[in-house]
Amino acid sequence: MKIVFSGIQPSGDLHIGNYIGAIKQWLELQKKPDHKLIFSVVDLHAITVYQEPEVLSKKIFEIAAIYLSCGVDPKKSIVFVQSANPDHTYCAWVLNCVTNFGWLTRMTQFKDKARKQGEAKTTAGLFNYPVLMAADILLYDTDLVPVGDDQVQHVELTRDIAKKFNQTYKPIFKLPKVLVKKDSARIMSLQDPLSKMSKSDPDARSRINLIDDDDAVAEKIKKAVTDSGAEIVFDPKSKPAISNLLSIYSELADKPISKLEELYRGKTYSQFKSDLTEVVLSIIRPIREAYFEYCNNKDYLAYVLNSGLEKAIEISNNKVSQINSAVGLGL
Ligand code: AQP
Repeated sequence: MKIVFSGIQPSGDLHIGNYIGAIKQWLELQKKPDHKLIFSVVDLHAITVYQEPEVLSKKIFEIAAIYLSCGVDPKKSIVFVQSANPDHTYCAWVLNCVTNFGWLTRMTQFKDKARKQGEAKTTAGLFNYPVLMAADILLYDTDLVPVGDDQVQHVELTRDIAKKFNQTYKPIFKLPKVLVKKDSARIMSLQDPLSKMSKSDPDARSRINLIDDDDAVAEKIKKAVTDSGAEIVFDPKSKPAISNLLSIYSELADKPISKLEELYRGKTYSQFKSDLTEVVLSIIRPIREAYFEYCNNKDYLAYVLNSGLEKAIEISNNKVSQINSAVGLGL
């Protein structure tokens, strides 16, 4: 049995980068019989950057609704809210005490976010975020962590932290492996193909949200920046914008990029964009419809999250007992 753990922060509306980088892989793994899947709405990660409290508490439910709308099946997968299980912060503290300070200073996501928001807004929580992520993963004896490219460094750090704990105390933590798609692991902004598509980008035209309406999707793809020259070819160095659009198309239509290059040889950007719009809509329309139904059924969502929490706590409590006994903590 392989255990899979992954999560998404309720720090905004989920976009097709989150879908392609993470959720699509979750759905593939969910089809495998010998896999136990655990998906968390990682709200404690979201507050490493300030969130409006009323918005955050709504977003937690909305992200859970999106998980289910995309096809996460609570009969097969555990779905729960991270902050509802106190074992995560407990484990994170213990892991903080074996994590080398220098390891955290090398995390590129921290450096990027800290640079963008400035020193005055950068919190110790943002610095420690990868240790909380390590706790999320290690508490469940996770084998596989399906994530987008931006999180690979954090999973590698998780392995280093687990190794250090295992050597310092007792070998109680399993070393997880990262699962990442090759060509499409990082979907880029539609407005700046050199930056990652991100929930918190202030420019809403930079991303396609999974609950965008048809007109918004068409408009965003129409306005997406393109490269000089008219060819539709995949070459991220010289044609980053069209390469990004090709990755999105390829992932959502399940067609190899080489086939798309053949199909659009001699065609215009505008023809390509119009077909891409249809492809994106064919994926997000059913997600959007299901999402509004789940949002109108809060009782069912609460039931899914509460029963997921019970199952998660059963597993993580056991790991906390092992941690306490290894370190010599508690009574
Ligand atoms: N652009 C992306 N391409 C591919 N995968 C992506 N992921 C995020 N953006 C892309 C993957 O989605 C999962 C959830 O991400 P997260 O919410 O934990 O945090 P993030 O990586 O910081 O995502 P955002 O959208 O950029 O959020 P903000 O703006 O709040 O920081 C992860 O598996 C991630 O790899």
